[in-house]
Amino acid sequence: MAKILIADDDPTILSLLNKILISKGYEVKLAEHGGVAEKLLKTEQFDLLISDIKMEPVDGMQLLKKTRQLRPHVGAIMLTAYATVATAVEAMKEGAFDYIPKPFKIDELLATVKRALDYQKSLSEQISGTGHIEAKKYFGNIVAESDQMVNVCEMIKRVAPTKTTIMITGESGTGKELVAEAVHSFSARSDGPFIPVNCAALPETLIESELFGHVKGAFTGANAEKEGLFEASKNGTLFLDEINSIPHNLQSKLLRAIQNKKIRKVGGTEEFDVDVRILAASNRNLETMVKEGSFREDLFYRLSVITIDIPPLKTRPEDILPLAQHFIALEMEGGEFPSMDNAVLSILQNYTWPGNVRELQNVIQHCLTFLSDGKITKETLPSKLIVSYEENPGAQNAALTGEFEKGKSLKAFLRAKEKEYLKTVIDTMGGDKAAAAKELDISLATLYRKLPEEAQNE
Ligand SMILES: Nc1ncnc2c1ncn2[C@@H]1O[C@H](COP(=O)(O)OP(=O)(O)OP(=O)(O)O)[C@@H](O)[C@H]1O
Ligand SMILES: [Mg+2]
Repeated sequence: MAKILIADDDPTILSLLNKILISKGYEVKLAEHGGVAEKLLKTEQFDLLISDIKMEPVDGMQLLKKTRQLRPHVGAIMLTAYATVATAVEAMKEGAFDYIPKPFKIDELLATVKRALDYQKSLSEQISGTGHIEAKKYFGNIVAESDQMVNVCEMIKRVAPTKTTIMITGESGTGKELVAEAVHSFSARSDGPFIPVNCAALPETLIESELFGHVKGAFTGANAEKEGLFEASKNGTLFLDEINSIPHNLQSKLLRAIQNKKIRKVGGTEEFDVDVRILAASNRNLETMVKEGSFREDLFYRLSVITIDIPPLKTRPEDILPLAQHFIALEMEGGEFPSMDNAVLSILQNYTWPGNVRELQNVIQHCLTFLSDGKITKETLPSKLIVSYEENPGAQNAALTGEFEKGKSLKAFLRAKEKEYLKTVIDTMGGDKAAAAKELDISLATLYRKLPEEAQNE
């Protein structure tokens, strides 16, 4: 059973907590101020610290800092009077799991204790070098833990074997090319080539001949006949990335190539058949471009028979740890996995990831380059993450507020609300997930999938 250290200068609270927690089977040690608690922390192992903030002579904040240094794997819950909620937020910034305003309800306290312990447990299982678990992966290399990414992968499975053209949308670095590759590899064309082409990188004058090829003498410098990318992708998949950069005058030719599966080389007279599946991605909203008149409507509809939208990383924090582990595994050539402390995870989950998964991959590379004593610690992170964390430690909870926030989709908001409600129901059912699922009228499996990580290990 878990061992809990309680620090409070109020003897009635100490004895009350002592009684409650012992009755629930926890092992408990008491300290009448921070100094006593610190001594105990040095000599004994604990799983959790519950500490008052206002104490003399060593207060709760000092104790929390000490605990993070001495025993980074010990979770902390801070007790605070209503008047000092600002300090409590400060405490969360220092790595406390949660705070409980005084006076508190016993049920609430017990639920928070349980969540904190579950959270610590799942963290230490997932993070410790030996407990490095394989991230859930689809198609061999797509990490998907969040419902949103699982849905994306289910969608890929469903549409990959068909012949349809697919439009893949998502912010920069969300994994559009990875999804395109998965569609290809899960289709009947997987033995054929997969050719990604960034339309924005091709000079406008060359784009037509790059895509469709040219005959000898078609233009100055065309000294020999050349095969285009369409032809090169024969019996395979052509991924037209940043398709929004295709000049307007070429769009009709592209439409024809997709619709009739026929192309004509630049300067050529004959049309010939090519059997290519087209996948496309755009970094601009094509519908807007259609309205503006810069993108052909017929081509737009032809391309987006099916759309797969990859949500930004900040709306799916459940994917951060498994992705981080995935990237660590990719970088490490055998040997022991570096451990990652809780503070790092909080910072990673708090960050808004404008560069999405690619940025996370870069951050992990950065950390691995600057490992401290074989570990990924706060000090090994790029400073922009620390700065953003210090400026806005509660960013990860921002989705919960009903306030308008740029980039917060309805989905993200509803998902955050959903999580909150799940937590409440599970707590009300005394942690009995089967009962909670029944109450919520969903299957137990669905409940587990939707569960916030900290409530998962029970
Ligand atoms: N779910 C995921 N699982 C594993 N790796 C991922 C995942 N999503 C993205 N990546 C990795 O992140 C990096 C960026 O992904 P990718 O190049 O596919 O993004 P993109 O959306 O095409 O970006 P851009 O808009 O900049 O072209 C790649 O190294 C890719 O392998
Ligand atoms: Mg890309």
